[in-house]
Amino acid sequence: MIKQSIITITTLGLLSVSVSAFDTAVCAGCHGKDFEKKALNVSKIVKDLSKEDIVKALKGYKDGSYGGAMKTVMQGQAKKLSDEDITAIATQIAGGDTKSEDANKTAEDANKTAEDTNKTAEKASK
Ligand code: HEC
Repeated sequence: MIKQSIITITTLGLLSVSVSAFDTAVCAGCHGKDFEKKALNVSKIVKDLSKEDIVKALKGYKDGSYGGAMKTVMQGQAKKLSDEDITAIATQIAGGDTKSEDANKTAEDANKTAEDTNKTAEKASK
């Protein structure tokens, strides 16, 4: 009985770490780590765009309604993104990285608490 509840707590903690942020490492090669570069020297500097503009651009690449001379490059990228990914990315870029770091921190704290709970429970079940 006790063991089962221990496992549930720990899993929940780990889960919130992994879903807290979209990994934009695939974008960094062209756009820079913080979207601070002109990708392939032609794109706008994405970190200067608003959240709405980023969403509009990415959804537009997906459905073919947006883009400039190099849009085929981004169409290939955007096709792989779900609408949820797009919202997450736009929030991350426009809102800065602090929020997702905060979320990770909170999740880490939750894990720590879960570990402590586990220790206490282990002691109790001995
Ligand atoms: C292979 C290089 C490459 C990669 C990888 C890439 N991009 Fe781009 N991106 C470009 C280019 C080139 C443009 C400009 C395309 C055009 O002419 O419309 C662009 C444009 C954009 C724009 C619109 C800015 C504008 O100029 O209107 C956004 C937003 C964007 N990219 C986000 C992303 C995101 C998010 C990722 C990762 C999921 C990503 N890109 C990955 C090359 C890349």
